[in-house]
Amino acid sequence: MSRVYNFCSGPAALPEAVLKKAQAEMLDWHGAGVSVMEMSHRSAEFMSILASAKARLSRLLNISDEYEVLFVQGGASTLFAQIPANLANGFDSACYLDTGAWSSKAIKEAKKYVNVDVVGSSQEQNYSTVPDLSTLNLDSEAAYLHICPNETIGGVEFSELPETSLPIVADLSSTILSRKIDVSKYGLIYAGAQKNVGPAGVVICIIRKDLLARSSDDLPSVWNFAHLAANDSMINTPPTFAIYLADLVFEWLEEQGGVEAIESVNIRKAQALYDFIDASDFYSNPVDPAFRSRMNVPFILADDSLDALFIEESEAAGLRTLAGHRSVGGMRASIYNAMPMEGIVALIDFMRAFEKRHGQ
Ligand SMILES: Cc1ncc(COP(=O)(O)O)c(C=O)c1O
Repeated sequence: MSRVYNFCSGPAALPEAVLKKAQAEMLDWHGAGVSVMEMSHRSAEFMSILASAKARLSRLLNISDEYEVLFVQGGASTLFAQIPANLANGFDSACYLDTGAWSSKAIKEAKKYVNVDVVGSSQEQNYSTVPDLSTLNLDSEAAYLHICPNETIGGVEFSELPETSLPIVADLSSTILSRKIDVSKYGLIYAGAQKNVGPAGVVICIIRKDLLARSSDDLPSVWNFAHLAANDSMINTPPTFAIYLADLVFEWLEEQGGVEAIESVNIRKAQALYDFIDASDFYSNPVDPAFRSRMNVPFILADDSLDALFIEESEAAGLRTLAGHRSVGGMRASIYNAMPMEGIVALIDFMRAFEKRHGQ
């Protein structure tokens, strides 16, 4: 067996230690005689896994009792609709910041439920930067402000939050647990698991408890945040194996020293890659340096006729899934928490050698 360095944007690489632990526990979880996949979600065993996942996440992100941690199904795209359906109930509008492909998709879905006020957009800059957050024209009567602080496709990230009394709703799918955040500044945080948390199939949703009162009983139960909170995310069968894997990833992260420790590794990884790209005439990154993502690093080759060869040779060198998103082309290295520094070094070595072979 040989594992490669996997730069996929999601479902993404998981820590090898987590996969090995899941493998060891696959047939018989802690003496239960069955796999986690085979046990009732109402069993004491699974309830202990769910409680552990919640407790570990709360410790890692320092989540206070004012918040409820939910495990929601259907991917982050389901939340694009679920959020306005729950939180905009009784409001005329919701504010959205448009910083790239994922905020645009969130806007498109929200428009089906509420009047969307796009309060800032970097579309004219080809989503290579972030609008000035201090000049957003926010309606204080709006339901909330939605932001996507890390655009997975464009590789644009911002960590400052706009000053506002509106609840801030943030899609942290591709940045959660990669850097410190102050949860108390948000009304709702959501994140599809398949990048920094675990396998696809579950979405982390951290919601300020007072916002649960906005969910109308007319909503389908499985969509209703208040019902989900009242039933410990178990209105129906939750994605049990995905929650179990998430718990193992949280455990691994605690062993690494928590979010602060992994953040410093992430800074070093991203810096090494950007420094190499910036020093080269052969590769370039199109994003405003002030807003470059630590998790998703897009780069283009000066001669795009070499793109296919770059992918072919990188795959052969054990560097998997470096092609950019189909909507933008070029390359993209997604370097979430599970990507070790060795993977970055291997990528840079390959890029240097490729330039030597094929550059002028
Ligand atoms: C920032 C962001 N939001 C939302 C999504 C959509 O996630 P899903 O495919 O789980 O619906 C993605 C997927 O990559 C993403 O990167």
